[in-house]
Amino acid sequence: MTIRKVGILGGGKMGTEIFKLLGAFDFELVLWSPFPEEIEAAEKELTRKLRRRAAKGGARGEAAAASLARMTFGTDMTLLADVDLVIEAVIESLEPKRKVFRDLDRVARPDTIFVTNTSTLSPTSMVPSPARAQRFAGLHYFYPVSLVSFVEVVPTRKTSPQVTEALVEFVSRTGKKPLVVTSEVNGYLVNRLLGAYYNEGGNLVGEGYWSPRQVDEISRRFTTIGPCESVDYIGTDVILFGVESADESWGRKDHIAVQSRGREPWTSMHFRLRDDGRLGRKSGAGFYRYEDNQPVDDPEYIHQAVKTLPVYHRSPGFDEDTVEKRLFYALLLEAVLTWERGIGSKEDIDYTLKELLGLKQGPFEYIEEVGIDKIRDDATQLAKKVGSRYCPIGFLRRPGDLITEWEYDPWFRHDPAAG
Ligand SMILES: NC(=O)c1ccc[n+]([C@@H]2O[C@H](COP(=O)([O-])OP(=O)(O)OC[C@H]3O[C@@H](n4cnc5c(N)ncnc54)[C@H](O)[C@@H]3O)[C@@H](O)[C@H]2O)c1
Repeated sequence: MTIRKVGILGGGKMGTEIFKLLGAFDFELVLWSPFPEEIEAAEKELTRKLRRRAAKGGARGEAAAASLARMTFGTDMTLLADVDLVIEAVIESLEPKRKVFRDLDRVARPDTIFVTNTSTLSPTSMVPSPARAQRFAGLHYFYPVSLVSFVEVVPTRKTSPQVTEALVEFVSRTGKKPLVVTSEVNGYLVNRLLGAYYNEGGNLVGEGYWSPRQVDEISRRFTTIGPCESVDYIGTDVILFGVESADESWGRKDHIAVQSRGREPWTSMHFRLRDDGRLGRKSGAGFYRYEDNQPVDDPEYIHQAVKTLPVYHRSPGFDEDTVEKRLFYALLLEAVLTWERGIGSKEDIDYTLKELLGLKQGPFEYIEEVGIDKIRDDATQLAKKVGSRYCPIGFLRRPGDLITEWEYDPWFRHDPAAG
């Protein structure tokens, strides 16, 4: 099934970004929003360059005019009656998303594929009718769409293999790498992996021995971006939204970190920052304060904040090598767990971490190189020093190894996608 005509729901940040990406290819495009002012503004913005080029004429002008002719903007949902694929990018809240899909289900062709660009909600929870279930999935673009080289394709249990295949082909056609998330879980593939790294960065700062800058600098021994600076870019509110808003959509408390390693729902340090209005760069302060857009250390605030955190965060100071290992093994063990749970392939996991964090070697490439015995020894040492979240898991484990707390937890064994 070839996708030729695509509808996009929502003229906000992601809707317009996705539209721009697809506008560079020869798709017919429809941008829909229920708000006339938004559609008007989006149309003006998204067609400005093309209109200018078309007015100049010549071969480039003709191509621009042809592109413009393939674009439609409007508030009337019947404009979407004959599209092959609809990408939903409306506000990150379950009810509005459910409503637009229900309305769309009444006007769209029975074979139209519906996808949601949600980052934190369950695609299954938005399926508008049993008849649409096989043609419904997640398609998760990342911001900024033009720069991120991959897109997560998230089939639900009911999505037909042909639909997944069509989405993979569609994503590839637009020059992006499709990462197929093979089990529909909160955080999908990418945010689960990143979450483990951010979480450990927050834990380290929250313990009160290492400043955000030291943690970020040590992390640069194996990455190009530290966990604290990353969180400040994204925003503590955005990061915690996924944790806190998950319940309704996934059917139970299904925090990324709960069904991941470790029992703490999320590091208390991130909550502390968010609750103090330190949302990151956009609010002028997060782990760092920002002056002229430059991160400045804020030891007084960090010191005060750490004092308010629960005592379970206190643990003895560690040397720099241990800090590096804590950060790296947080990623490595999450990678193993992600693969063991059938969420993504080893290749995709390695690719994602190399691409996003600049790792020279992905976790699985590293395991391959140094051997399971070394990984298992390192993890065991960390588990003894830091906590059971570092116990060897999955294929790293041998009989008699330490076992993590969460493995006793029925929550962890529950498969959220099974409902
Ligand atoms: N911003 C990001 O970095 C990012 C990255 C990946 C995925 N996403 C996801 O993309 C989706 C859109 O996010 P965004 O950042 O573009 O948000 P945005 O706030 O820029 O846009 C939200 C859109 O929803 C529309 N909307 C609001 N209320 C509505 C309603 N009741 N019914 C229909 N439409 C309504 C708005 O008009 C707007 O078009 C969300 O699901 C978000 O999680 C965002």
